[in-house]
Amino acid sequence: MKKEFICENITSNGDGHLCLGGQDVVTLAEKYGTPLYLMDEDRIRERINTFKGAVHNCLGDNGIIAYASKAASFKEMYRIMKSENVFIDVVSGGEIYTAANAGFPLEKALFHSNNKTDDDIAFAMDNGVGFFVVDNEEELFVIEREAGKRNITQKILLRITPGIDSHTFEAVSTGKVDSKFGSAIETGQAKAITKTALSRKNIALSGYHCHIGSQIFDTDVFCKAVRIMADFIADISNTIGYTPEILDMGGGFGVRYLPSEPIVDINKFISVIGENIKKVFKDLDIKLPTIIFEPGRSIVADAGMTVYTVGTVKKVPDFVNYVSVDGGMTDNVRYAMYKANYTLLVANKIDEICDMPASVVGRCCESGDIIQENVTVPASVKRGDIVACLTTGAYNYSMASNYNRIPRPPVVILNKGGSRIAVRRETFSDICSLDE
Ligand code: LLP
Repeated sequence: MKKEFICENITSNGDGHLCLGGQDVVTLAEKYGTPLYLMDEDRIRERINTFKGAVHNCLGDNGIIAYASKAASFKEMYRIMKSENVFIDVVSGGEIYTAANAGFPLEKALFHSNNKTDDDIAFAMDNGVGFFVVDNEEELFVIEREAGKRNITQKILLRITPGIDSHTFEAVSTGKVDSKFGSAIETGQAKAITKTALSRKNIALSGYHCHIGSQIFDTDVFCKAVRIMADFIADISNTIGYTPEILDMGGGFGVRYLPSEPIVDINKFISVIGENIKKVFKDLDIKLPTIIFEPGRSIVADAGMTVYTVGTVKKVPDFVNYVSVDGGMTDNVRYAMYKANYTLLVANKIDEICDMPASVVGRCCESGDIIQENVTVPASVKRGDIVACLTTGAYNYSMASNYNRIPRPPVVILNKGGSRIAVRRETFSDICSLDE
């Protein structure tokens, strides 16, 4: 019987095996080894096109999608973004280098970060990054100096802190007044940096940016941010006479990790925000800027799956059953960091009843090395079984580490029934390659 799990690209087949993008996960585990990151390219492209269509429907040519590449950054991902003709958000010299190496046209890149190093600023400029999203005045002066040296005019957006709590978990909420990101409206710094930017010869101010947080399920928070940004823009227009060409509303659209969580309908979500933007700007009688959205997680999360092999199954009578897998916090640190939810399935026993409570843990020397607590697995689970952790396409590979000198898994891309390696498996020799 074919079942569906969490997202329509995850199903099962007649062998009782889990499938991603129609391909048997157990067979893929045999072919590529475990632990293994899988990425369903068809799903990524579908998500991008859903976003593009949604933005086009309500904003026409006035809307742009920029993929927040911190969610999953490797060359093949930038090639996909290039072929889909979207912008990207980058946060470091490393992401810029990777995108450049993949042949991504960097004039379509927005360079973020609350602390761009002098080297990163110079590197970004030398590589022709289109827009710097300037966090603060100190940074603005370095950008101006570097642009002056090169005799260019650098396009920038100013990152504004709207003063909103996005009701998400603290560590990924970024729009509050005391956030480390951006210049706050409330403190007067947002207006001050606007004046400074406008007075600089080698700087072209293209507009404003804000980002209120991640994993947000509620359009109201976005609409509040729109209102605050629009009021700020109206104030700037009335007092300084400047109107932005671009307003970037950031990313943060929620993704379903558990069956109990809602599915965010991107078409509806963007339409509510987009219509709200049009109305608010019309009411204030301000020319509608080009609107950018910067989704990361919602483009790649449910295209991804991590596949492990079960090792030790340890039962602590009356307490807990541990199912240990051959990966852990090195490939998925999100439970350790945020207590993030995931759905886990035993991929080779998909038709068996899950009636044994368990904690699925990794193999690192660290008791917080947990993929997920309080899940249920088939009672027959044993060494050699294949466990799949769903919805790991965002912030898993990109946050992976070599703790305990564990090599990072490969990233294998699935596409129209075929598969290819996008990032090869790290070897022990890779791990020692920087050591003197
Ligand atoms: N734009 C800016 C300026 C951002 O800071 C972020 C995420 C995004 C866009 C994309 O947000 P998304 O659509 O992916 O929610 N490591 C955390 C997430 C940190 C998000 C940081 N900024 C996690 O694993 O949940």
